[in-house]
Amino acid sequence: MSIRYLGHSAFQITSGSTTLLVDPFITGNPKAPVSADELSADVILLTHGHGDHLGDTVDIAKRTGATVVAIVELANELSGSLGDAATVLDPNLGGTVTFDWGWVRLVPAWHTAVSPAGTPHTPAGLVISIGGKTIYHLGDTALFSDLALPGQRDRLDYAIVPIGGHYTMDRHDAVRAVELVGAPNVIPAHYDTFPPIETDAAAFAADVEATGRRVIVLQPGEETNL
Ligand code: NI
Ligand code: MN
Repeated sequence: MSIRYLGHSAFQITSGSTTLLVDPFITGNPKAPVSADELSADVILLTHGHGDHLGDTVDIAKRTGATVVAIVELANELSGSLGDAATVLDPNLGGTVTFDWGWVRLVPAWHTAVSPAGTPHTPAGLVISIGGKTIYHLGDTALFSDLALPGQRDRLDYAIVPIGGHYTMDRHDAVRAVELVGAPNVIPAHYDTFPPIETDAAAFAADVEATGRRVIVLQPGEETNL
């Protein structure tokens, strides 16, 4: 199983013949290492519908037929956009959707969200179980104590954590966040895409590694085995 960083908050997770995309913001993403039409997907998972997360979801799902998972209000909007082209699954916070490859659960994230088309909805984090590993993508969030709850239910292997500040927690709060989450492996995201979210990922990595966790800083386009 592998994970490839597509820049910003976007990741491609591959396990066997299954490909997941999380928050595929490619077009307009200055760090994107690919164009959206090069990406394949079986499932697209969305933390929320801000443009820098929804991204190319509709185009990719129309082209590939990928199933889309998004919180219910956003899912309803996407259902309307996609029609018969793709299935859209619509959990709310706390809900789990299961697949033949594993499952994904929506958990709270402290953030705001209205889609580009104007649909208000609540942002989420994603707990993803695939290939025998559990990955917690925190989405866009501030630091809050309930980040500790998913790890009380499932043994988390990887945490994907926003560190860029301004629109999310910054790298200092992210050090506290990974302590709460409790995963032994940490991948930083949501930084250096635009000037307001420039930060020092190496300093974040050093601070977290001092607590005994492993930090994997991926360059956009870089892939690592999970
Ligand atoms: Ni956002
Ligand atoms: Mn964002």
